[in-house]
Formats: sequence, C-alpha cells, structure tokens
Amino acid sequence: MPDFKRYMVTSALPYANGPVHIGHLAGVYIPSDIYVRYLRLTEKDVKWVCGSDEHGVPITLKAKKEGISPQEVVDRYHNIIKKSFKEFGISVDIYSRTSNKIHHETASEFFKKLYDEGKFIEQTTKQYFDTIENQFLADRYIKGTCPKCGNDDAYGDQCEKCGSTLSPEELINPKSTISGGTLELKDTKHWYLPLDKHEAFLKKWILEDHKEWKTNVYGQCKSWLDAGLQARAVSRDLDWGVPVPVENSEGKVLYVWFDAPIGYISATKEITADWETYWKNPETKLVHFIGKDNIVFHCIIFPAMLKAEGSYILPDNVPANAFLNLENDKISTSRNWAVWLHEYLEDFKDKQDVLRYVLTAIAPESKDSDFTWKDFQERNNSELVNIFGNFINRTLVLTKKYYNKVVPQIGILNAEDKTVLNEISKTKDTIGELIENYKFRESLKELMNLARTGNKYLADTEPWHLIKTNPERVKTVLNIALQITAGLSVLSEPFMPFTAEKIVNLLNIEKIKWEDADKNSLVPGHIINEPELLFDKIEDSEIEFQINKLLKTKEANKKDSIQLKPIKEIVSFDDFQKLDIRTATIKAAEKVAKTTKLLKLTLDTGIDIRTVVSGIAEFYKPEEIIGKQVQVLVNLAPRNLKGITSEGMILMAENPEGKLCFVSPEKEFENGSSVS
Ligand code: 2FM
Ligand code: ZN
Repeated sequence: MPDFKRYMVTSALPYANGPVHIGHLAGVYIPSDIYVRYLRLTEKDVKWVCGSDEHGVPITLKAKKEGISPQEVVDRYHNIIKKSFKEFGISVDIYSRTSNKIHHETASEFFKKLYDEGKFIEQTTKQYFDTIENQFLADRYIKGTCPKCGNDDAYGDQCEKCGSTLSPEELINPKSTISGGTLELKDTKHWYLPLDKHEAFLKKWILEDHKEWKTNVYGQCKSWLDAGLQARAVSRDLDWGVPVPVENSEGKVLYVWFDAPIGYISATKEITADWETYWKNPETKLVHFIGKDNIVFHCIIFPAMLKAEGSYILPDNVPANAFLNLENDKISTSRNWAVWLHEYLEDFKDKQDVLRYVLTAIAPESKDSDFTWKDFQERNNSELVNIFGNFINRTLVLTKKYYNKVVPQIGILNAEDKTVLNEISKTKDTIGELIENYKFRESLKELMNLARTGNKYLADTEPWHLIKTNPERVKTVLNIALQITAGLSVLSEPFMPFTAEKIVNLLNIEKIKWEDADKNSLVPGHIINEPELLFDKIEDSEIEFQINKLLKTKEANKKDSIQLKPIKEIVSFDDFQKLDIRTATIKAAEKVAKTTKLLKLTLDTGIDIRTVVSGIAEFYKPEEIIGKQVQVLVNLAPRNLKGITSEGMILMAENPEGKLCFVSPEKEFENGSSVS
C-alpha cells in the first residue's frame, strides 16, 4: 500500500438536464461529502471537485423540445443543482461545469495529445442519418421492429420486450424517434480508443492489484474484462460539445463520456495552480465517487485514457454505490418518480440533516435500497429525536437546571465512568476506520451508538434522583455527559454538518478537531448556551402529504402511459372495397359454454339470419344486447369456434386498455345497409 500524502476526490458530474433528487444524494454526493469532511477534520490535504456534465444528446433534445438553446438548458439546471448541493451542505471545493472555457481547452488538449501520439484509430462506418433533422442518430434514438420478437417498439441498442441486445442496422423498418421519419445509412468518420490494447494492463491493475474494491465494482469490471474489450468511438456527429480539435472534423464533437471525466481535471485547475500534484503525483490518492451505471467509464475507459496519455495517476478506489428506489419503485426523472431536493426543502425547511441521516442509514452501498416516507418518519422520530437529540437535550437541560449552564467539576471516576469515556475514543477510531473504507452506513451506526451509550449512562446513573442524595456525584455524571456531547459535535460533522454546528453553538465552544474528540475538551467553569432542541418530531400528517403527492404522480403516469396503437400499413382502396360490412340486428345472444369471453349471437343481416361468435362476453351481458344494431363483416371466411361455425365478425372499437365497444349506426338503420 503506498503511503499517500494527499487526496484527490471526485464525484460524478450530474447531467445538467434536470434537478437532483434523493437518489443522487444517497448514491454519490452524501458519501463523498462524509468522506471529504472526515479527511478535512483529520487535517488531510484534500481537494474535492464536482460540476455539471453539460454535453451529450439528451441536452440537445431537451433544448429542441423546449425551443431554447442547449446553453439555456444547462444554465438553468446547473444553477438549480449547484444551489441544491449547497443547501444540503455538500461541501465541494468547486462545483464547476463542462461548458466552461477551461474545460473545453483541457479536453481538447487531452484529445490532441492522444491524437498526435497515434493513440486513436480512425474509422469510417455507416450510421443512420435522420434526413429531416439533418443529423446522425445515437442508437437510443432509433426505433423499429425487433428482428427477434417482432416488437414494434425496439430501440437501436436493445429490445426491451425480449431483452435482446441489438444494433440499429438489425431493426426492421428503423425510424427516428426525434422526427419520426425514415433513416438513411451514411458514411461517417470517427476516432476510436482501442481499449483492447489496454486490456492486459487493465486486467492486472484491477483484477490483481485492486482486489480490495467493492464486490459490485470488482465484479462488473471483471465481467467486462472477461468478455474482452473493443475499440470505443470517442467522437460523435453533433453540434453541441467540445469540437474535435483536428482538421477536417466539422460537425464532430468529443463523445460526452470522453470529455466529462476530464472535467474533474479542468475543475481542479480552477482551484489550484498546483493541480498537477493532485493528478500526476503517485503519492496522491485518487478516489472517484459514482453510481453503479458509471462503473465502466471510471474503472475501464477513463483509466485507459489516463494511461494512454501517460502522465496521470489512476484511481486508488472507485466506491460505486447501487441505486436507491423510492417506495419500491425505480426513481425516474421522466416519470417524475423522485423526491426532488428543492421540493423537499420547501416541505421540510431546515431539515437537511434529517434527510442526510436517513439517506446514509439506508445508502445503497452493496445493493439497491429503498426510501419510504414511513421509514423516514420512523428514523427521525425514534432515532434522531429519541436517541441523539434526547441525549444532548437532557444533558444541556440538566446542566442548566443544576449548574446554571456552568460545566461542573469532574470527580473521582468509577469503572462505569471510565468505560463510557473510553467509548468516545473507540467510536472516534471506529468511525474513522469505517469511513476510510467507504462503509458509511456502519460508521453512522457507530455515531448513534455513542449517543445511545450517553442515554444509557444517564438512565443508569439517574442524576435527577441522585441530585438529592449525592450531588457531588452528579457533577461527574454531567461533566461526562457534556464530554460525550462535545465528542458528538465533531464525530457527527461528516454526517450531519448542520447539527454538528448547532451542537458547537449550544456548547458555546470553538469547533473541535477530530483528534480531540475524546480529549474532554469542555473545561469546568465554561458556560454553555441556552438549551434548544436539535430535532423535532415529524407528524403523520406531514408524511401522508408526501405519500399523497406520490400517489398523484402515479395516477398521472398511468394516464400518460396509455398509448394508442400505431397506424397500420397503408391499404389500397381496392383492398378496402373487398370488405363487405353490413348493418345487422342482434336477435339472440347466449354465452358459449366453458368460455369466459365468447358470446354466440344470432344476427339479422338484412340478407340472412346467421350465427356469429364474438369475444365480447367480458363487456356485454347477453340480455343487454338483444335488439342492438351493429356492423358486421359478412364476407369473412367462416371459422369454427368451440364447435360453433361463426359466419362473420362484429366490428368493435378497442380502447388502449383493451376494452371493447360496438360500432353501431348513430340512428336506427335498415339491416343490410353496407358500409363504404
Ligand atoms: O451518469 C451521469 O450522470 C454522468 N453525467 C456522470 C458523469 S461522471 C464524469 F465522468 F464526469
Ligand atoms: Zn424483441
């Protein structure tokens, strides 16, 4: 293990095409904030960068849809995201953005260096071109019929119905999802990073040298490496992004996943002239905080880029998290299934730490986890209010009551006192070790356990009774409870920075260093401030309000998801004329035995009386439809259904939910009238 002298921490750059939600916080930004706050408290040399990822196709599409420029889209969301992070205490050294000039320059130089050194392959391939929009399309924006299962809605990279991985050329009748038009295959030149050439290095570096990486991260890397790496295009045909900095490359930009991670480097340049020490010196520990969908880019592609460039260090660890669900359903921006950070603060003003606490307690560290409003309420009321807040409040209130807010003298310590004081040291060490190993859930439990210890100590010693019989002893008890409180003021800071600051203020002290958390820094005679509650109970009505909000979203989504079937292929008038559709009256109707859907109908078609079997039993009772006029296809070849010969078909309208209804003449009309 190298002995690191400094840390370079990065957090995934969120796309600036929407606001941020609890999933972002739980997966990436709270863990990295805990980590960096801890490093700062232990006086490590650390730089932490983040910013908005402002390129890529989705941003251009959003701009097109709203009739504004991509720059306007990213300006809007960059500011919203930046504000949310600030409000939640995400203490990055810089929240930058990839549309900045310095980033364009840094990314261009990086590409140029690899290009000049012949590290790319140039290749011309045929790709689908949307002639209406005048642009090449990424695979996701092409839809067509799946060659494997016939699903009409398959994407250019995957059919979600049968799960097959596809390439756009395999789709039958491919269409642009942007213009709806048909597509043309056209030649286009791009630059590819030959990942296969880096495969041997990556295999050794990850599979042998980084066995300590989280199982999910290591496992995903292993399966990529086992499958064999291929060259990846690092440019795209698009007019939004960092232009490819070589001749004859008009209309081409760097692939967003090529430029975005370089954004970490550009952002570091903005905060220190000494940026190379943080990116090129092997004594720097580089750590990338990301979500699981970013693993391949941070563990394979970006390291391959850095290695190819030659002068950079590689990450020491990439502690990727899994995903957070919301009320047992995948968080989704397009379905508005999320708790947006800016909306949370409207409803739970000044309760940033409650959310930070809950999201750390349930963080998806090893597998996907679930946020529910009930659990949020429960954790606030029974953990933050009843344990953490209660301990500190009792300590402060008793200090006020018995000693007029003056820290009392500590007397002779008994075994219990010593054990409790020792718990502060132990907790400090354990939390530190767990944070250094990216185990934030467990480290938070340790913090709560210290508050529990404090509560138990008060409950066991009962100073409120003891004050009458042994007031000297109460001084020691409360002094110790105050030392625990002081310890909590620093140990809680990585997790709940706002609360930590409040405790510091309540104790009327200067912020304590991490290493001094167990040094009994409250001196007897020191005067504390007026006690105040740190947390308050969250009522059922507040939770019901949130749940109702989600129920409304669900309802709205249900309505939106109802989709009409696409129009069928064009038919000629002559073909249509072949259908002989007549008005008829239902004379008799009965259920077909042993079926749930079929009715046997006797029809007067004006020409004859005939039998038709129709699949309408779920929608009509036989007795309801006697006498009703309907339209019947009378020249359909007879079919045998459950032993009955059906001579024709009744025309029915079918809605998106699959419900059926007759297509009847709007007034009584002669049987036998033909539809044309
Ligand atoms: O998945 C995402 O949201 C990407 N915008 C993350 C980019 S991370 C980095 F490489 F910049
Ligand atoms: Zn399919």
